[in-house]
Amino acid sequence: MKKQIQAVKVLGTGSYLPQKVVTNDELSQTLDTSDEWIYSHTGIRSRHFAAPSESSSVVGAKAARLALESAGVKPGDIDLVLCATSTPDYGNFPSTASLIQAALGCQKAAAFDLAAACSGFVYALEVARSFIACRDEAKVLVIGAEVLTRSVDWTERNVSILFGDGAGAVVLGTCTEEDAPASRSILGSDGTGYEFIYREGGLKREPPTSKVWPVPYMQMQGRAVFNFAVRKLDEVISKLCADEGIAPASLRRIYAHQANARILEAVARRMKIPYEMFYTNLETTGNTSSASVAIILDEAVRKGELKDGDQIALAGFGAGLTWAGILMRWPYL
Ligand code: UT7
Repeated sequence: MKKQIQAVKVLGTGSYLPQKVVTNDELSQTLDTSDEWIYSHTGIRSRHFAAPSESSSVVGAKAARLALESAGVKPGDIDLVLCATSTPDYGNFPSTASLIQAALGCQKAAAFDLAAACSGFVYALEVARSFIACRDEAKVLVIGAEVLTRSVDWTERNVSILFGDGAGAVVLGTCTEEDAPASRSILGSDGTGYEFIYREGGLKREPPTSKVWPVPYMQMQGRAVFNFAVRKLDEVISKLCADEGIAPASLRRIYAHQANARILEAVARRMKIPYEMFYTNLETTGNTSSASVAIILDEAVRKGELKDGDQIALAGFGAGLTWAGILMRWPYL
């Protein structure tokens, strides 16, 4: 008889996009830009804006409730709430994860945030998988939640037009199915590229004497990030596939960070795979940073296009610089 091995599995998914939609045409009423420029350079047509009452913990909790519902798991059964976010409710503490834990009533759960920018959700999945692997049995709520539209300067056109708000979540748990396939992962960082995308607001400098802090808007060198993203996505997905002994073209789908359709097109050309292998929704969401991969996974599940046994890759890249990839057979992590 085969030994039963505990494997980690996605038990449920959820996502939430705020109601308010802002189109490129609407942006061009206040910014020196156009739908033609934004769409041709990014593939984005519109994005969602959080309501004033919606912070990262609020949108994150909304996505998490749906994930718990679809998993059939009660908040009280969750052992860890792990939230990837670049736009936490508070500067450093308390964590957004703690706020979500309280909102949902996950009384027995530990909670902390993970900061790896747009790679955050894929990083968090791997951290959660390792957490579960060290325990007999555990359930983890992994969330990517962002209100990025509050972190950019809406008087300038270079950065702001890219971003949107939203959240996605998954519930991870264990199973003891025979032959449950193992996943592979790559997590990486190159801090020498930290100036390519950053947002001040921490304590790198002495605090200002005035009680009013300056609003720290995101700064980005777009072209440098673009080139890094194309190179890294190719590298990460190709290495995961090579280690598994498969061709990238044999993957069922690639769920990559939704930053810019032109980045994904360039990666597809470089890897010699069809662009359609990448799941995309950024036309109507923009870049939701650490929420994007979580949101597209949930969308794919709800559309019925992500089926048990599908071999897929997840990939993220972003500030840090950071990158992350996971090769898995859905829903085994
Ligand atoms: O999650 C990771 C986050 N970041 C990213 O993924 C960003 C990656 N980078 C990109 O997506 C692209 O670099 C951008 C979309 C940000 C910019 O596209 P680009 O093709 O690299 O344009 P550019 O920055 O080289 O600018 C080209 C021109 C400039 O005008 P001049 O100097 O040639 O006259 C810009 O001022 O386009 C101008 N421009 C705009 N024009 C109209 C820049 N932004 C806009 C705009 N509307 N919104």
